Amino acid sequence: MSEFKVKRCRPIRMELRVPGDKSISHRSIMMASLANGPCEIDGFLPSEDCLSTVNAFRAMGVKIDEINSTKWGPTRLLVEGRRGEFTSPAGDIDCGNSGTTMRLLSGILAGQKEGFRARLIGDASLSKRPMRRVIEPLTLMGANIRAEGEGDTAPLVIHGAQLKPIDYQSPVASAQVKSAIMLAALFTDGKTTVTEPQQSRDHTERMLQYFRVKTVRQENQLTIWGGQTLESRDFEVPGDMSSAAFWVVAAAAMPGAHLCVHNVGLNESRTGLLKILIRMGAQITEVIDHSRCGEPVGRIEVHGGRLRGTTIEGADIPNVIDEIPVIAVAGALAEGKTTIRDAKELRVKESDRIATVTNNLRLMGAQVEEFFDGMEIQGGANLKGARIESHGDHRIAMAFAIAGLHADGETLISDTECIRTSYPGFEDQIREVIAAKNKGNYTPVITSLNPATDKEF
Ligand code: S3P
Repeated sequence: MSEFKVKRCRPIRMELRVPGDKSISHRSIMMASLANGPCEIDGFLPSEDCLSTVNAFRAMGVKIDEINSTKWGPTRLLVEGRRGEFTSPAGDIDCGNSGTTMRLLSGILAGQKEGFRARLIGDASLSKRPMRRVIEPLTLMGANIRAEGEGDTAPLVIHGAQLKPIDYQSPVASAQVKSAIMLAALFTDGKTTVTEPQQSRDHTERMLQYFRVKTVRQENQLTIWGGQTLESRDFEVPGDMSSAAFWVVAAAAMPGAHLCVHNVGLNESRTGLLKILIRMGAQITEVIDHSRCGEPVGRIEVHGGRLRGTTIEGADIPNVIDEIPVIAVAGALAEGKTTIRDAKELRVKESDRIATVTNNLRLMGAQVEEFFDGMEIQGGANLKGARIESHGDHRIAMAFAIAGLHADGETLISDTECIRTSYPGFEDQIREVIAAKNKGNYTPVITSLNPATDKEF
């Protein structure tokens, strides 16, 4: 089991690019495979989760060539679209740790021709995560999908079937559920609507439009018409806001720090963290400098200072669903109380994030009260180094590495392999930030995983 140590760093002064967006990288492979010809994808995130999606489509007969690779894996791929018609995989499709792979793929595979069969498996964490949320609407659409695990969990066995459109009220604000239904809806011959209690990230709808599929949004309701074919086009993936989030919090809570993150996706359904930090008194500027493939892209600039506590609840939550562990760290560093409510979804992420965040913050000396749907953190106490268990959850490992940059003594982050599911290169970057002090040069310029685009910066 790998681990690394973190200790307090000098005020961060750095410019960086983060690797490609995870949600968009998954979808780029899926949509390119559904398209009617070749698509070149640049800026792809070579993380284990996204490579699970690549391997899944390869196993179903899609030709995917690697055009550019880094030490972590491919960042530019050429996908030969198959108009949404795939061949049954010879063995199980291993989705690894990736809920996005399993849930979105379920929608696509449910609409395959009769005779198609696939079995989707996952690692121990994914095998515990709820799949009823996609099984239920897909079954209403006529899907032949069965969970082998207890309580509707993976493995999932899917047989191709003729699907019909639905009008679905989703009980959860989940982009994975919404996307599984929208992708399945492509295989129907009518109009499907999905209504969410609150708006979740909207990459699927934006990307479908980019690939010339018509969708219509009215507040929290999305409509899509079946029978449309995705038109093959090249695609560029922006940097991942959820990866930038770790550095943004690290700098925002550190007086004297200055950070600039370039080429990051600034889609409003993903930038809730910035609004929350601004509410906490952070000095943050967000500049959208272009739109690429339907997504706003730009830079985030942060000047560090003292933060104050806030309340995060209700409609705030879907927008920061992946950032809550690092927001909780910001809360522990802020003056006063930070309250997080309405976030019970966190209990069914890669780990039970309410429990893992609460326990780890307490280990570092913060006072935290745990609620069934969130927590209350008394900020302002000096954090102290501790041995942190990631529980195999990448965002827990990285959030507490950031806490370690602000803590007295040494923080040991254990079980860190999971970081590769979303942010290969994070460990190298954090080492550079800490080492900057020793070299007397505390302005590391950290580059992305994509040498082709680094030269611009
Ligand atoms: C994702 C949606 C979110 C998020 C996950 C990625 C996506 O999950 O937590 O990391 O790519 O659609 P839910 O849809 O379960 O909220």
